[in-house]
Amino acid sequence: VVCHSRLTDAAGTDVSVDTHWRSAMMANAARDPFYLAKVTSEIERNPDLRAALEDKCSLCHMPMAYTQAKVDGVAPTMFESGFLNKDNGLNKAALDGVSCTLCHQVEDKALGTPESFSGKFLVDTSTNPPDRASYGPFPEPLVDNMRRSSGYTPQFGEQTLNSALCAACHTLYTPYLDASGSVAGEFPEQTAYLEWKHSALSSEGKSCQSCHMPEAAGAVLISASPAPPKISPREPFAQHYFVGGNAFMVGLFSANAEALELTCSQDHLDGTLQRVLTQLQANSVALSMVTTQSSGALEIGLRVENKAGHKFPTGFPSRRAWIHLTVKDGAGKVIFESGKPQADGSIVGCAADAAATEFESHFDIITTADQVQIYESVMHNSDGEVTYTLLRGAKYVKDNRILPRGFDKATAAKDFAVQGSAVEDANFVGGSDQVTYKVNTSGSSGPFEVSAELLYQSISYRFLADMLRDDTAFIQSFSGMYDMADKTPVAMAAVKQTVK
Ligand code: HEC
Ligand code: HEC
Ligand code: HEC
Ligand code: HEC
Repeated sequence: VVCHSRLTDAAGTDVSVDTHWRSAMMANAARDPFYLAKVTSEIERNPDLRAALEDKCSLCHMPMAYTQAKVDGVAPTMFESGFLNKDNGLNKAALDGVSCTLCHQVEDKALGTPESFSGKFLVDTSTNPPDRASYGPFPEPLVDNMRRSSGYTPQFGEQTLNSALCAACHTLYTPYLDASGSVAGEFPEQTAYLEWKHSALSSEGKSCQSCHMPEAAGAVLISASPAPPKISPREPFAQHYFVGGNAFMVGLFSANAEALELTCSQDHLDGTLQRVLTQLQANSVALSMVTTQSSGALEIGLRVENKAGHKFPTGFPSRRAWIHLTVKDGAGKVIFESGKPQADGSIVGCAADAAATEFESHFDIITTADQVQIYESVMHNSDGEVTYTLLRGAKYVKDNRILPRGFDKATAAKDFAVQGSAVEDANFVGGSDQVTYKVNTSGSSGPFEVSAELLYQSISYRFLADMLRDDTAFIQSFSGMYDMADKTPVAMAAVKQTVK
């Protein structure tokens, strides 16, 4: 790690691998207080499955410790004397989250296939240091220095250039239970890789790495030692940004860095937060508006385009994005508003936020203020009820997350298909969605000001409220941090028009 620090690109920008990785979500996957709280909530709801849950949930969030425990023939456990206990021999490896050595050791075996999904990546645990391979993107690595300083033998690994490497953890099937507590099937909880595979980006060769590990400007000397000419600068150099949309958690890390015993500096967290915001505000969506007026009515057409490489939002089912639309009359008075965010994280008019058993449908046409266009996935359990318990999620009853470019909803396999009324919405297609607002303006006088913004939230109001029904030390601790945090959603894009 020391070797790959203090690196700069041709423009003099700091591109150190360690700097970027350490403050990103993957480095902190094991310390993430929302993750830890959710694991304990699942255990509260399924106490008989405690061992299975500690095993399953540590697999991708603490992969180094998990892999080593399996080699040692020990059951991977997280609590009591498990990985989170400072006296546990694997505590440090666990807290390192998705670390350098994990990714760089994944073998090119069964990647991109169901055999390696759900965290079933393979790591060579039989070869002893310094002969154990560390795979990288460069064809002729300098071997001796790395063997001496890290105990690994660097080797070219084609897999490091492919999305299939990421697929091992970013395709997640979870077994689910019926009401009697018996396993009733498997649920595709996260399918970022399969969504990407079904989009135009995969055929165009735009890998996960190309967006999540953007190229540095020009060539980079990838190690601080040995000195040139023993090593020569490498190009392209993939920066280890690893940012998605989780600005909320990076902000919460910043505010609680000491309590969470993070190993990165505030500066590094600030850098990651800026990169997440750029990802959300520059690289994710485009919003456009067309308005038409007739007597007593205003018709507003909004188009949301997805620029990411998978559904937007992708990943964990607590994410949501929605349209906040406001129409004001000539005097500046609000005559129509849909999707207004509240300080507590809820949305005015959202059925799920008002009642635990409900959820907001997908809309093609919106005519009343209590209809809100929310792009999200909502789980049903095996009894056809809305659930937020991961082990009870049997299927998505709603999945209108905006499709990536080139994604044909008619041919998508059921594990990552569109669900709910977006299926029949003719303008909910690969790459975009269009929604029409019909606003009654009779009795009001213009000019009307129409403004729309797309807002993003990492943890939806109901997902959180549901978890807070349980009472564990980890939930209390997270809840305290959540209460103090700024819950303002991220404004991703905005458009405005004045209509005479
Ligand atoms: C999530 C997986 C992952 C983690 C964690 C990770 N890497 Fe990488 N690393 C990659 C991939 C994939 C590439 C090749 C990317 C490419 O060339 O497109 C890479 C490339 C590299 C390279 C070659 C130069 C470059 O960046 O292109 C070095 C050196 C490197 N990693 C070191 C590290 C170190 C040190 C850490 C920990 C601080 C680390 N990596 C953490 C996946 C990872
Ligand atoms: C060993 C399993 C594993 C592998 C391999 C892996 N990831 Fe991750 N990744 C995770 C986990 C776990 C998280 C969630 C951490 C959290 O939120 O607590 C995550 C989170 C992320 C995020 C979300 C960050 C945010 O700001 O929301 C991105 C982006 C990401 N990974 C990209 C990648 C890419 C690209 C690759 C392949 C080069 C990759 N991952 C490989 C386990 C993995
Ligand atoms: C064309 C660029 C692009 C490609 C290709 C791409 N992503 Fe992303 N990814 C994004 C953007 C932009 C975001 C932020 C918006 C969002 O959260 O969906 C993102 C977000 C994410 C997140 C975080 C979601 C969250 O909850 O915060 C994960 C995880 C992720 N990507 C994984 C992957 C994986 C795995 C692949 C490859 C199979 C991949 N991405 C390919 C652009 C891309
Ligand atoms: C196959 C790998 C894998 C396994 C197994 C896994 N996770 Fe995750 N988890 C991920 C990835 C990848 C993400 C990040 C997705 C994103 O950012 O949208 C994530 C994100 C999360 C988050 C959101 C964190 C945040 O900060 O927003 C929670 C909570 C979570 N996982 C809980 C769990 C629980 C509970 C279990 C056990 C039942 C579990 N995970 C098992 C891969 C995994």
